[in-house]
Amino acid sequence: MTGYKTIDPATLSLAEWHPYLIGSVIPRPIAWVTTMDKEGRLNLAPFSYFGAFSSKPPVLAFSPSTSARTGMPKDTHLNLLEVPECVIHIVPYSLAARMNITTGEYERGVNEIEQAGLEILPSVAVRPPRIAGTPVQIEASLRQIIPLGETPGAGQLVLVDVLRLHLAESILDAKGYPDPRKMDVIARLGAFWYARVTSESIFWMKQPRNPSEVLAWHELPRDIRESRILSASDIGHLLAHRPADAELLSKLPPPANPQSLHQDMKALLPDRAAEAWALYLQRVQFA
Ligand SMILES: Cc1cc2nc3c(=O)[nH]c(=O)nc-3n(C[C@H](O)[C@H](O)[C@H](O)COP(=O)(O)O)c2cc1C
Repeated sequence: MTGYKTIDPATLSLAEWHPYLIGSVIPRPIAWVTTMDKEGRLNLAPFSYFGAFSSKPPVLAFSPSTSARTGMPKDTHLNLLEVPECVIHIVPYSLAARMNITTGEYERGVNEIEQAGLEILPSVAVRPPRIAGTPVQIEASLRQIIPLGETPGAGQLVLVDVLRLHLAESILDAKGYPDPRKMDVIARLGAFWYARVTSESIFWMKQPRNPSEVLAWHELPRDIRESRILSASDIGHLLAHRPADAELLSKLPPPANPQSLHQDMKALLPDRAAEAWALYLQRVQFA
């Protein structure tokens, strides 16, 4: 008994395996993609097998699989072979239901933009238009399609080069960068679950760029390592914020009342780790 359910995808059918994969690799951003066929007919569809994979050159990828229903490539894929350009939009909560409408496997040539009653804006560097009301719009050109298999469910990995990034002014911070607290975007989870990114659901965690900014596990005072009050997460935040006089820690006597000290430190975590350390050092030194 390991406490884990372990699954070998090779022993399962596509229908059996798919819910495990999409329920496990979460949250996934959603690329809502406009494309155009050679007659100029428009298409819009969402893809959550999606991400950014290179900053310079700026390269994104998404993966329209070979349809499990028809065994055929998706319209987005076929359109990219005819007009190798697209616009990728990040989906706001306000358009979640409209996005959901555009996932229907309509006949090729059916314009999901019209079906969902969406407004378009002209693009600058590509022929497919942009969807109005989306906070982020990325005009891109096809770099490569990598087939990951031929059977239904096999991803056809589409790599695209970013030509233009459009950001709604309403989502910008004071420096002109996108502010996640203003974007209200959604991400796909398993089954029909989604996550909504709001100021209440996100947190800020600066990267310790320099190893000297962090404390190593063995440098933690023993009472903290063995604390029954500070959680694994609390201790993680203490490790990530090395106190200025860290070398003192190993020389200090154990605190007289670790339980109440840990309670007081916990009240300052996760956001005020530096103050939690200051409290620790002050109480132990003046005990
Ligand atoms: C949120 C969401 C994410 C999706 N992600 C994918 C995906 O990553 N790959 C895929 O093949 N289909 C995905 N689908 C299903 C496609 O959107 C659907 O097959 C659509 O009809 C494809 O459109 P097209 O044939 O016009 O390209 C997703 C559906 C939804 C609602």
